[in-house]
Amino acid sequence: MRSTTRYRAAATVAVLAGAALAGCGGGDDGETLQVYSGRHYGIETAFEQYEEETGVKLEFQTGNDGELRERLAAEGEDTEADVYITVDAGNLVAATEQGLFQPIESPTLDEAIPAEFSDPDHNWYGLTLRARTIMYNPELIDEAEVPSTYEELADPEWAGRVCMRDSLNGYQQSLVASLIAEHGEEEATRIVQGWADNSEILANDVLVIESVADGICEIGLANHYYLGRALEENPDLDVKLKWANQDDRGVHVNISGAGVTKWADNPELAQQFLEWLATDGQSVLVDANHEYPANPAVPAEPLITEQFGTDFLRDQLNAASLGALNPAAVRIMDEVGYG
Ligand SMILES: [Fe+2]
Repeated sequence: MRSTTRYRAAATVAVLAGAALAGCGGGDDGETLQVYSGRHYGIETAFEQYEEETGVKLEFQTGNDGELRERLAAEGEDTEADVYITVDAGNLVAATEQGLFQPIESPTLDEAIPAEFSDPDHNWYGLTLRARTIMYNPELIDEAEVPSTYEELADPEWAGRVCMRDSLNGYQQSLVASLIAEHGEEEATRIVQGWADNSEILANDVLVIESVADGICEIGLANHYYLGRALEENPDLDVKLKWANQDDRGVHVNISGAGVTKWADNPELAQQFLEWLATDGQSVLVDANHEYPANPAVPAEPLITEQFGTDFLRDQLNAASLGALNPAAVRIMDEVGYG
């Protein structure tokens, strides 16, 4: 078993919303919702807007997705959490399998969020979309020469020219899960072996983009919003994005999403909060992190619309399948020695 300490976010769960969660719940007059969130960027803005619009008080804790999930499981019926928000379909499926959610019936959510981003049994709904795609340094490689598929990155010609993220990360695991769904385990294993042979393996997507910008790698694989953030800081950054697999199944898309916990004190209110995040709150939720809205009726924010566009083909694989194939993806990466 390899050590995870090098890569993990700090194990401590940050308490951001005022004091520690109050045991009693309930504000002076309004209602209170307790939220565990593994998704961080800009989420406070969305929460504040929700409080202003509804008068409901939100108390929330952010932290590592898997650790918050384990905490929820350990607390069980004693938990304060009404809602669990997390990135990556793998975490949402794992939470479902651990019985941490309760299914909800919401015509509003069913209408706002396409079925491919939701649990078929309605335990959770995707709220934001993140595309994991190919990045390149235009000073080092012409766009026409940039590989156009994930599969090509396994070819020997790319040896020593690619940077990728490590196998402990859910984003990379879900990408491998999508390879398994497309090609089966044997071919997926061959591709991941090629990646392992060709790539410098780094600890996070920020490093992948920095390494491409610095010319350490010509090509990288990262979630699109990390490039959005980097370009916001430095519009002249030498990194461009290429949507992967546009001539076949489309670019791999993952989600962040949420569900109502099994032990929610006020499941109706928790459901209303999810409905708000999927509709009136979509823009404020996704824009701060340069993600694409899961609700197709909501436009993407200007930076990614202008820089990356919104007209690209995405893999239609159901998010739940990514979670279901996660154990096989982790095993394959381990078997081939992908770092
Ligand atoms: Fe991320």
